[in-house]
Amino acid sequence: MDKTGHNDPAALLAARSDIPCHVAVIMDGNGRWAKGHGLPRIAGHRKGVERVRDMVSGCIEKGIKHLTLYAFSSENWRRPPQEVQLLMDLFLSALGNEIKKLHKNNVRFRVIGDSARFGEKITSRIRRAETLTRENQALTLTIAANYGGRWDIAQACAQLARRAKIGEIDPAAITEASIEPFLSLAGAPEPDLFIRTGGEQRVSNFLLWQLAYTEMYFTPVLWPDFDRAQFEQALASYAGRQRRFGLTGDQIEAARHA
Ligand code: IPE
Ligand code: IPE
Ligand code: MG
Repeated sequence: MDKTGHNDPAALLAARSDIPCHVAVIMDGNGRWAKGHGLPRIAGHRKGVERVRDMVSGCIEKGIKHLTLYAFSSENWRRPPQEVQLLMDLFLSALGNEIKKLHKNNVRFRVIGDSARFGEKITSRIRRAETLTRENQALTLTIAANYGGRWDIAQACAQLARRAKIGEIDPAAITEASIEPFLSLAGAPEPDLFIRTGGEQRVSNFLLWQLAYTEMYFTPVLWPDFDRAQFEQALASYAGRQRRFGLTGDQIEAARHA
């Protein structure tokens, strides 16, 4: 990181690859997919879980090291209680069914978000899954559940403030780089590629801090239809972009040929 707290552009350029290291996805459109097929909304969410499996295997094949998926936002509690309950049931059963397979595939599993609001069953399954897969190396799969980007920044600030209060941190010395270690994704590189399916072009309180320089890809394709071919298209779009991090295009070209 440079002194602004952002990743150092020179280092980012040196590490530049056509394949992103970290992909973050807003998996949107499950409800509309279900409606279009004359099915209840939960059928769309179930189909969505299948697409998560494809996405995980796609990332492993491509050598992508981090995949962060938005599964449930802090705002999604506002949905009808029955849908919230069915989503929680689905989360619980996915935690039961998928973890062994993830572990076998050398995937490290993590959950970010305010887990205090989940029941004991869900939280203990999350903890077990995180412990089991802690040392895995092929891919880090992070599920954002009851996650909000503003919540993330606020909880990081609260941790910083506690340390400042006991004299561990000097408030005058706080920089952007001091905040990063307290954020939920601390230690992971910032996402290189953001994908949102379902046609909306907004961030919906996802990784507000970490998306500062991420390449954005929006597609009208609904999440249950987002297959490997769709993912390839997103990756091709990413590979065709010039990331500049504030520099000029000429500077980037010169650095590439240096
Ligand atoms: C995204 O699909 C999944 C969650 C928010 C849990 P939606 O349920 O938002 O699907 P649409 O946007 O209604 O189609
Ligand atoms: C964002 O989708 C959250 C997830 C995909 C989990 P929403 O469908 O809830 O987003 P908005 O409310 O349309 O912005
Ligand atoms: Mg939606």
